[in-house]
Amino acid sequence: MKRILSGVQPSGKLHLGNYFGAIRQHIALQDQGDAFYFIADYHALTTLKDAEAKEADAAQKAGKKTWKSAKEILAENVRDVALDYLALGLDPAKACFYRQSDVPEVCELAWMLATVTGMGLLERAHSYKDKVAQGITPSVGLFSYPILMAADILIVRSNVVPVGKDQVQHLEMTRDIAGYFNGAYGDVFPLPQEQLGEVPAVPGTDGRKMSKSYGNTIEIFAEGKALKNAVMGIVTDSTPLESPKNPENCNAFAMYKLFATPEEQASLAEHYRQPMLNAEARGGRPFGYGDAKTLLLKKIDAFFAEARQRRKDLAADPARVESILQAGAAKARAEAVKTMELVRKAVGMLPRPV
Ligand code: ADP
Ligand code: TRP
Repeated sequence: MKRILSGVQPSGKLHLGNYFGAIRQHIALQDQGDAFYFIADYHALTTLKDAEAKEADAAQKAGKKTWKSAKEILAENVRDVALDYLALGLDPAKACFYRQSDVPEVCELAWMLATVTGMGLLERAHSYKDKVAQGITPSVGLFSYPILMAADILIVRSNVVPVGKDQVQHLEMTRDIAGYFNGAYGDVFPLPQEQLGEVPAVPGTDGRKMSKSYGNTIEIFAEGKALKNAVMGIVTDSTPLESPKNPENCNAFAMYKLFATPEEQASLAEHYRQPMLNAEARGGRPFGYGDAKTLLLKKIDAFFAEARQRRKDLAADPARVESILQAGAAKARAEAVKTMELVRKAVGMLPRPV
């Protein structure tokens, strides 16, 4: 059976881009193979101090005297990702779900891999250059992030890694690193393949790719006023209310497509093109972007209603969430220990004394 693995950075509230670009695919794949999903908390440490500085900056600008520390941010984000994934349908009976830091063999393997990886490979990494360009402090950890990621993937000898386009280079590097190791010590690792989701890029409220770093997200678990404000804040053009509008270049329509059936999409498109369609239902008023956003809001609200309730139930039972993560770590560790036995043997080390 194929082994599937992916990691999620605990870096804030998950949004619709994360859901349609990654999470939905992860959850569907739990029925198609031996799935491993983990919360990448060791990776998060590479940017946590910068996240704290951002919090401090925002708090000070808002006139506040206290803000969340790096420690609090990490704990809260790890908890959020765990709740989000479980609420959205990750089934611990099907997929192994764990925290990266509960499987310490990952760091041990990262060291082994670092010794066969040339500096040049890491120097070419886009994500490192991007993060430095964003102002993140360049630590050795940030620089060697792709090695830790390769170790995440190779420690359970994964075959398939469902990720977004932005992670493709990391997968290429993982194959290169696995290849260097296999070349030096014999075939220990299968070469993993990325699997891209069908939704390439979910647009944000301003039409650019939805991303935390652009502040244009709609959070999966936003509700009530916060959700309404986010949806109503979607940027649309200034076509007058009574004029025909083009659905194909509208951000609200692009988001609606993610939730609606083909018939519902066709009906909304007709209302864009003919604003007086069914005007009597609106007291004779033409159909405007506000009406489209209201339809979108209802869709988002209904789509995540069950997950929202499940999330509340889980949040009220932290011991259950913790026991799921610990059971996941035990299973992942058993695999990791087996891999490390192969690796130690390959490089000429004796089995570790028990
Ligand atoms: P962000 O850009 O908000 O920081 P991440 O880089 O943490 O998001 O993304 C986590 C996962 O979600 C990745 O697999 C990424 O490809 C996917 N993803 C993020 N934003 C989008 C988007 N707008 N459309 C599709 N997929 C996305
Ligand atoms: N780098 C990934 C991201 O930023 C997260 C990640 C860490 C990951 N380790 C992984 C993804 C292993 C897939 C496999 O989204």
